[in-house]
Formats: sequence, C-alpha cells, structure tokens
Amino acid sequence: MVPGKAETTQILFVDDDERALRAFQRGFESAEYRVTVTTDVLGALELAEQDKFQIIICDYIMPAMDGVAFLERCRRIAPDSLRILISGDCDYQSSIDAINRGGVYKLVTKPWDVDELKAMLREAAEQYWTKKESERLSKLIKEQNTELVVRTLNLDREIHERTSSLLNGLVTALDLRDTETQWHSRRVSLYSKRIAKALGIRGEEIRSIERGALLHDIGKIGIRDSILLKPGRLTAEEWVEMRKHPDMGYKLLEGSDFLERERIIVLHHQERYDGKGYPLALKAKDIDIGARIFAIADTFDAMTSDRPYRQALTFKAAREEIIRCSGTQFDPRVVDAFLSIPHMEWREIREKVEGRDLKGEKAMAHGAPPPIPPKPPSLGPHPAGPSEPIRPASLGAAAAGSPGTVPAPVVPDVAAGAAPPPPETGSPPSGESSA
Ligand SMILES: [Fe+2]
Repeated sequence: MVPGKAETTQILFVDDDERALRAFQRGFESAEYRVTVTTDVLGALELAEQDKFQIIICDYIMPAMDGVAFLERCRRIAPDSLRILISGDCDYQSSIDAINRGGVYKLVTKPWDVDELKAMLREAAEQYWTKKESERLSKLIKEQNTELVVRTLNLDREIHERTSSLLNGLVTALDLRDTETQWHSRRVSLYSKRIAKALGIRGEEIRSIERGALLHDIGKIGIRDSILLKPGRLTAEEWVEMRKHPDMGYKLLEGSDFLERERIIVLHHQERYDGKGYPLALKAKDIDIGARIFAIADTFDAMTSDRPYRQALTFKAAREEIIRCSGTQFDPRVVDAFLSIPHMEWREIREKVEGRDLKGEKAMAHGAPPPIPPKPPSLGPHPAGPSEPIRPASLGAAAAGSPGTVPAPVVPDVAAGAAPPPPETGSPPSGESSA
C-alpha cells in the first residue's frame, strides 16, 4: 500500500504450477496486497475483465494460452493494470513479445527472489496509485477550471444584466422627462433593429445597434431641466450645452466594456449624412452604420408620434419626408432599406411596445406606483415659436414644394424647435425632434 493511500493493491496471479501459486499467496497476502490466484487462464481473463486488479502476473508457459497472449488480452480489457510476466525459460523473442504485445511492466525469472519481487511489487503499486492520483487531480482541476469559467460567465452575465437594467431605468426616466412618453427609446430601438435586419445585419451587431438606439440620449441625464425642458428658444450658450449630450453619453458608458459599440452609436447619433450634424460633423460612412440607421428610426418615430402641440403624421407622410431627406440627413442605402419594410410592420412594432404599457397599467392596479403624469404642453416646444418643429401642415407644404416654402430638415435636435442655429453649421436644427 502506498503511504497515505487507503487502497489495498489487488494482485491477480496466474500459473499452472499450484505450488508456485501457494508460495506467492503465502508470501504476499497482507494488508498491503490482496492476492487472487488461479491456474485457469481463461477464467483469469473473466476476472481481469472486472478491472479490479492493479497488478496482473502470469507465467509464460500455460496450457491454454501462453503468458504473452494472456497479458496482451489483459492489456485491452484492463489497460490501467500493471502486467508482469514470470518465466523459467524466457528467451529474447519472448521478452520482446511480452514488452511489445503485452505491454508488460517487468519480466521476472523463476524462481523469483522474494526480496526483489517485493521491491518490484511495491514500486508497481506506487506507480499505479501515483498515476491514479495524478489523473484524479487533473480531472478535479479540469472540473474546477470549468466551474471557474462558468462562474466567470455567470458573473459577467449578472454584471451585464444589472448594468442593462440600470440603463433601461435611466432610459425610461429620461424618456418621461424629455419626450413625455417612456416608450420613445424602446420604439426607436426596435425600429433600428428592423432596419438593420433589412440591411442584412445579423448576430451581435444587430443587438448592439438595438441597444445603442435604446441608449442614444442617455447623455441628456447631464443636461439641466432649464435647458432640456425649456419651452422657448435656447440661447447660444444653452445650445452649446445641449450639444454636449452625445459626448456625455459616450463618457457615461465608458466603464461598460460590453457596450463599446453602443458607445459609438451614442456618440454619433446626432451626426448627419451630409456632415452637418454634431458633435464631430462626420460625413457618410464615417458615421457608424448603427447611428445612420438610428437617425431614420428616430425621425420616423418622432413624426409618427403625437405631441402636445400636434398630431402624429401618417406613416405615408413620414416616409415621404424621409425620402426627401435621403442623401442629406440620411444615408440613401439605409433609406432604401427602410422603404423596403411594409407599413404593417411599423404598426406591429409600435403595438408591441405599447403592449408593455398596458401591462404597466395592470401592475398599477395591483398596487404599483402611479404613473408619472404627462408634462403640460408648455414644457414642450412652443407651438407658435419661430423654429417650431415640423407639423403635418408645414410638412405637407414642404413635401408639395409650395412656392416660397423652404423645406425644413426633419431631424431636429433635442430641444426640438427651441434651438437657435448652431454656430458651427449655421443651419438651424429645426424640425421634429426627439434625438
Ligand atoms: Fe440626441
């Protein structure tokens, strides 16, 4: 028995000489070794199949099967066993066969020297149990590594879920504060996903675009109410502050490694295809494709949503306005993808999102907090203001090309209709806004 090991080593000894069997059993049966002896080589094969013997010893000359053939069979049925061939007349070729075919651990000559055999068996037993212990530890380490990987993945997922939950809460709060509906960002998120799909985008990229669209205005958390909710025009200074929100959102998400792509979409979401956007005045394909998709989704949602100062445009009118701005505000390729999507799908997405709202109402009936009341119209863009956001009437005139009417860009900025011309571009960010 190997020190520190509780296991007793089991030895199977096969010989047609009964005196040799008895001598071996007398000499080695002990607490250290449990010895099984037999003259029946075929019966010994059945015993070996039980795979309980750590050491198998066989005489070379046997009536039904020679020792090499027997050990060769044992090598297949009990591969972990250490096999020893004993012979009174073992020539060179037999020895080679024993090693190559039987995979024997040692060759022993008859009559054996008891001390030498004891030393050999102890060494064999130690080798066997050391190998088994090594295998056990390797398996344990592998299992622990697997467990560690699973724990790490679970931890990552938990961090992602908690971060996402926190961000979703912020988005909801921001939507209620800014756009008077908690579903704007979620609709824009699903609209963006649908347009991305129409462009052939798949997998993790489409999920990043969906999340990026959801988080697009997260930086507005850092914009003061006096600016974000100002009913009239923003001053030049206020407008400068408002235009910081993409960069503020980008920095807010800095610590979330798993939102790297989403950060870029947040940073680019106010850029325009023609380079007249902000904060970087990027053009065309320099703008992340997620942000180019978002621009259309956001405008579409803004135009097709009711506001305190005007009713929603029809889907058809919104599509016409997006077509009009293809190549200026919007990437024409993304516009084409948008136009390929049937009206019905936009309606379905909107209903799907608003279905969550109904669930919210049910939750309230069961004791959930009351809804946040809509902001009074005075908190939104001034309906009569000089840079009033696009309304159905003005849009119709623009789309029809009425004489003397300068079509306003649809996508506006955060303070829709309330902002003066941005100093950098000289072009007023008029029109519908939610971005
Ligand atoms: Fe924005």
